[in-house]
Amino acid sequence: MKKILNINKKIKSFSKSIFVEGDKSLSIRWVLISSLSKKKSIAYNLLKSEDVMSSINCVKTLGSKVKFKNDKCEIIGNGFYIKKKGNISINAGNSGTLGRIILGLLINSKNKIKLMGDRSLSKRDFSRVIKPLKKFGAKFNTKKKLPLIMKGIENPKPIKYFETRGSAQCKTSIMFAALKSKGTTEIKARKSRNHTELLFKYLKIPIKIKKNKDFDIIKLKGIKKINPLNYRIPGDISSCAFFLVLTILSDDSQLLIKNVNINPSRVGIIKILKKMGAFIKFKNLKIYKGEKIADIFVKSSKNLRSINCPKEWNSSAIDEFLVIFLVAAKSRGISYFKNIGELNQKESPRLIWASKILNLMGIKNIMTNNSLKIYGNPNLAIQKRIIIKNFLKDHRIFMMSVIAALTFGGNWKIDDADSIKTSFPKFIKILRQLKR
Ligand code: S3P
Repeated sequence: MKKILNINKKIKSFSKSIFVEGDKSLSIRWVLISSLSKKKSIAYNLLKSEDVMSSINCVKTLGSKVKFKNDKCEIIGNGFYIKKKGNISINAGNSGTLGRIILGLLINSKNKIKLMGDRSLSKRDFSRVIKPLKKFGAKFNTKKKLPLIMKGIENPKPIKYFETRGSAQCKTSIMFAALKSKGTTEIKARKSRNHTELLFKYLKIPIKIKKNKDFDIIKLKGIKKINPLNYRIPGDISSCAFFLVLTILSDDSQLLIKNVNINPSRVGIIKILKKMGAFIKFKNLKIYKGEKIADIFVKSSKNLRSINCPKEWNSSAIDEFLVIFLVAAKSRGISYFKNIGELNQKESPRLIWASKILNLMGIKNIMTNNSLKIYGNPNLAIQKRIIIKNFLKDHRIFMMSVIAALTFGGNWKIDDADSIKTSFPKFIKILRQLKR
């Protein structure tokens, strides 16, 4: 049955300290990398969400053994080759990250692999990974969409590739394929999150990275085997984002969010919100296996200013724009976000949805297929009924709507509450902690 959330009251002021769940990007990468080692890898605080469980189910299908015990997950992988005979079917569920990256990992598979996904994933673009993986020598039955069938190649040839979108999924898919190729692959990649690079460096995989202003040059040599990876997954800044904005837009509130991954390629939201006048501070900074981690302290912020958002910050805030738009809605002046067409390539067409929700809230906005102008209204108080439905169960659309309801008021009915299981199953539970 469809789970519906009704909200008709703003949240009362709060002062609390919370943890958000483990980082989704790191969790999926840990599962896939661990599947490549025949020795035992251990993770603590792995995100137990549907996207990560889909990753676990895929590597189990490919031959890995997986065990959970409380906060601990162990994987004994199948190594660099699949031992199973015959055709194999795997299901990436809702996860673009899993679906795209796992194809790179399967580059040397002799089996025919069928990759499926849910309704949302089946609408998304796979040409961005099909194209480079074909250069390695893989064959596909389609140019663009799931379900697809891929046939790998026993000895993949290293490639030279220019990744132009700034897609970390695409870059990582190529990096996994490069691992299994003989020789050096060279990727010129527009800036995007660099978790895979940091993990490969930590695992002492031969990788060289030259950083330029707009792109990185990654040179990666193929290897024969990989060490196991023990990892304690830090909190996800993309989950943290909902609570940052909730606090900023609430009255007389403050929040400490502990142990969050603040990798510089992920903190666009912090830079943007600070520029808009929000009070945010990092505390207890440390480095863990190459990743920056900190507690984040945030306070209600008055006198928020509009922003002309520098497009160089887009990739480091790509999953957070929906809630950033809510801050723009409450700011003085007109905010402008450009080059954000990629948002329409996510779990739902998010740019279109953002504009729709802002319209329902009574916030004037002008959308093109690549930009959004938001006419902020610091005095906005919603009184009407707002119904949010049919958004392809996009978890972040659901959570954005909840934060809007709790901070702007109105009488909201938001469908598909179970969508949070994709990335942040404890979202509602943590919200209830704030109300206590
Ligand atoms: C991700 C990369 C981003 C992001 C997604 C997770 C990753 O997508 O939107 O939620 O873990 O690599 P793109 O690489 O398509 O930009």
